[in-house]
Amino acid sequence: MDQNTFFWVLARVAGLSCFAALSISLLTGVALRSALFEGLASNRAVRSTHEFTALLWAPLGLVHVLSLTLDEAARIGLLDLVIPFRVPYGTLAMGLGTIALDLYLLVAVTGWLRRSMDTRWWQWIHRLAYPAYLVSFLHAVLGGTDFSLPVVTALAWTTAAALAVLSVARMVWGRVS
Ligand code: HEM
Repeated sequence: MDQNTFFWVLARVAGLSCFAALSISLLTGVALRSALFEGLASNRAVRSTHEFTALLWAPLGLVHVLSLTLDEAARIGLLDLVIPFRVPYGTLAMGLGTIALDLYLLVAVTGWLRRSMDTRWWQWIHRLAYPAYLVSFLHAVLGGTDFSLPVVTALAWTTAAALAVLSVARMVWGRVS
């Protein structure tokens, strides 16, 4: 295996793991605050899983994007990780990846600054995790190699559907404060 292939495989593995961590983080996050599962709000295992995966995605996402910048065949520069739609191929798919990364970073950084922020502002910024998930999902569907494998597709769509159902349930039954 040559160097570029190694970084390409690493980027794909890290991208999929990052997406899995984000999916678990969002699912447990919605469940924690939904009145439908009131008992879960005080469940320490669910809370710990949410907090752990809310951190875990960051190093995995970092490995994903850094491997791509080291893979010369991918032609992705550091600026492409911040400014969307600059990559000369798969421009839409790659641009969505950049937007997702920027949004997740905003949610994560403000997540740590919660105590020093106005609660309403903080909540609205934290809710950006939902559009970020949708954008990263589209990024992976449009740009990924392994995302079209039946097992990955089945898992990804099942998770997205579960998230949609939980979000609607939270809107209908309300949230626990
Ligand atoms: C947190 C944000 C991101 C997440 C969660 C994410 C996740 C993913 C996932 C799940 C895949 C599919 C992997 C596969 O099918 O094997 C993928 C592919 C890819 N991503 Fe990202 N990504 C993010 C940000 C970015 C950024 C900022 C870029 C660069 C501009 C990027 C470039 C790519 C490329 C080039 C591929 C295709 C790799 C291949 O050939 O399969 N991603 N990403």
